[in-house]
Order: sequence, then structure tokens, then C-alpha cells
Amino acid sequence: MIRVEGLTKDYGARLAVDHLTFHAEKGEILGFLGPNGAGKTTTMRILSGYMPPTSGKVSIAGFDVVEQSLDVRKRVGYLPETVPLYQDMTVFEYLKFMGNLRNVDDIDDRVEDVLEMVHMEERIDSYISSLSKGMRQRVGLAQALIHNPDVLILDEPTIGLDPVQIIEVRNLIKELGKEHTILLSTHILSEAQQICNRVLIINKGKIVAEDTPQRLQQHLVGVQRFALQVTGDGEGIADLVAKVPGVKQVQAIRDGQIEFETQPGYDSRPQVARAVIEANYDLLELRAISMSLEDIFLELTREDE
Ligand SMILES: Nc1ncnc2c1ncn2[C@@H]1O[C@H](COP(=O)(O)OP(=O)(O)O)[C@@H](O)[C@H]1O
Ligand SMILES: [Mg+2]
Repeated sequence: MIRVEGLTKDYGARLAVDHLTFHAEKGEILGFLGPNGAGKTTTMRILSGYMPPTSGKVSIAGFDVVEQSLDVRKRVGYLPETVPLYQDMTVFEYLKFMGNLRNVDDIDDRVEDVLEMVHMEERIDSYISSLSKGMRQRVGLAQALIHNPDVLILDEPTIGLDPVQIIEVRNLIKELGKEHTILLSTHILSEAQQICNRVLIINKGKIVAEDTPQRLQQHLVGVQRFALQVTGDGEGIADLVAKVPGVKQVQAIRDGQIEFETQPGYDSRPQVARAVIEANYDLLELRAISMSLEDIFLELTREDE
């Protein structure tokens, strides 16, 4: 449904999206997870046909976003980061207006249908200015659905909502995911874990990991993290351990205690233990720490390499 190959976008000198390749199928909710500035919004605007890529190929439901952007827009529903809602319109007027822009037939019926989908039938005559932020976000979803698109592109759909509204919008997205192909961006890891079937982690315009939320976690347990403790203040212990082959990211935790990571496939523990003892420290503990998905995300998107 969504095919992206070598997608690249630069804003002048700045490379916002750097050779992204991925795909998403019907019935799939693909999560686009990354910190601010990772390139999520840029990618989504290109996929929605609102901005051309610098290079690379993107097709939506078989249509090319550059050469067939009108066909693409017919098949894509886009919820931008901030939805431009007209405060002085009612929900009905607004959705009718958006539907007419997209040449939707039987617009009155269709407005009722999409309001049912987002569970807002009873607010059809409310002014947009009177709605809560969560309700407005649902109106945003309703406008994305008005022309019955196959693909939904949702840019940080729960940003700024309160916890109750967040749960409502997430449940709604999960429901919609059964019938649509959804690409959803978020910088919240637990959100990606809860809603998505598959997650792409992007950083600085590049994909740094791609898998199911469950497998990402298992995989990256391969990046091992260990805690080590010696008696006393352990002066110099961090520098010593950092020199052991296969060890990276040594972190002082408190006096006599450090944590370190090893390169995937490396078990440096015997060498670390030997180095510590040979340097006359009293080794109290050396144990593996399992990494949470949160740690993995931070690891993958760390600023300084
Ligand atoms: N219109 C623009 N002009 C110049 N640079 C931009 C523009 N939009 C975004 N950028 C830059 O491109 C990068 C990616 O931004 P964006 O796609 O908004 O990331 P995200 O949505 O993941 O936060 C950032 O470094 C951002 O500063
Ligand atoms: Mg963004």
C-alpha cells in the first residue's frame, strides 16, 4: 500500500530525510518513532502528496506521489501535526467544507458516517470553538477520513491531549487500523508499542531500527548492558573498563559502581573481570542488566556517537 524507496529530502544544505526505504500494507499500523527533528513530519508531508521529495520513489496504492499526486491525495487521509480547524464553523459545516474540497458525493451522509467512525455523532452541530482538544483531534481524524481513503497518515495524533483523550484516540486508531493502512508518527515509545504492529525508529533522517515492538526489544537485548561494582570509590575503574575490547559506553553510576555496554555478539565479561582484578580492585559484582525498549530507543537515537 505504501512503498518508499530511497526517499531523500533536503532543505537547502540540511538533509532532513536521508534515503528512507520502507513499506506498509493494508491492515497494518506502522509506527514512525523518532525524536524531534528526526524527519517524521517531512516524510509524512511527502507521502501525502503535499511536498515533492528531492529524490527517491514513493507510491501510495500504486500511484506515484510526484507524477500522480492527485490520485495519491484521493487515497490518502492526512492528519497534520496541527490541524487547521475553522473555529467559527460547526462540526458539520467544517466536514462538509473539507469533503467538498475533495469532491465527496452525498456529503451529508458521509459526514454522518465519519462522525460515527470517530464516535462524535452527537456533536455534529457543535461549534468547533466549543470542543475540547481531544474532540478537535477526532474532528481532525474525521476530516482525514471524509473521502474514504485507503491510507491514513497521522502525524503525532495524540500530542497535547490529556491521558483520557490519549487513550480514546489510540483506541480509535487501532479500530481504523483494521480497515486502513496507517502510518503514525510519535516520539513516545510506549505509544508505538501499544498501537503499532511494526515500528521504524528514525533518527536524523535515517532508519536505525525496524521490527515489531516485541522483537525490537528481544533483538536489542543483544546489545548487552552490565553493572559492575568494586569496593571503595573505584577511582579509575571507568577508564580501565573502557579499554577492554568490545566495551563501549561506560558510565559512572556512583562511587565504586559503573555500567557499561558491549558490542553485539561480544561477551567481554571475562576480560573485564580479569582487568579489574589485575588492577587490584576488589570485584563485588558483575551482572547483566536487561534493557527496556526505552533504553534501546535512547541508545539508538543518542546525539553523540
Ligand atoms: N520548512 C523547513 N525548512 C528548513 N528546514 C526544515 C523545514 N522543516 C523541517 N526542517 C528541518 O528538517 C529536519 C526534520 O524536521 P521534521 O521533519 O519536522 O522532523 P520531526 O517531525 O521528526 O520532528 C529538522 O532538522 C528540521 O529543522
Ligand atoms: Mg514532526
